[in-house]
Amino acid sequence: MAASKLDTKKKPMVVVITGATAGVGRATARAFAELGSSIGLVARGRDGLEAARRDVEARGGRGLVLPVDVSDAAAVESAAATVEEGAELIDAKAEPEVRDAGLIAAAQKVEHYEIAGYGCLSTWADQLSLGEVKRLLGETLEEEKQADHLLNQIAESQINAQSASR
Ligand SMILES: [Fe+2]
Repeated sequence: MAASKLDTKKKPMVVVITGATAGVGRATARAFAELGSSIGLVARGRDGLEAARRDVEARGGRGLVLPVDVSDAAAVESAAATVEEGAELIDAKAEPEVRDAGLIAAAQKVEHYEIAGYGCLSTWADQLSLGEVKRLLGETLEEEKQADHLLNQIAESQINAQSASR
């Protein structure tokens, strides 16, 4: 697909591409890269994603590697939200460690938003005596809390210190 068919105004965009390591996904990433776009690259394998990022950056775009299992809808949604929240950071001309610290903060903002949403829904389901709904929402709520906890650990154990030393 030619880049000119993606956007007739040829403006850089912020996009998320699933299956970005091969085939149509990789070709789409290249086309958006030629517009100077910031691209969240989503697929399962980190090695393939790093290659896709090099490909994107060689064509004038900026790539953010997001190793996500695309069969996990919540994980894909979270990755997309992180790209949206962190779009300015992806574009920032900063040291990678500094961008990473900012992107983790952006991801945590998304997790906290999700925790608030699932927390309210879970409470409502409980008050409406919807036991199975409450159980499922509670599971998702716990996953969001664990994601936030993991991001905290990554930030506090490595990324923040690496960023501060830049
Ligand atoms: Fe999440």
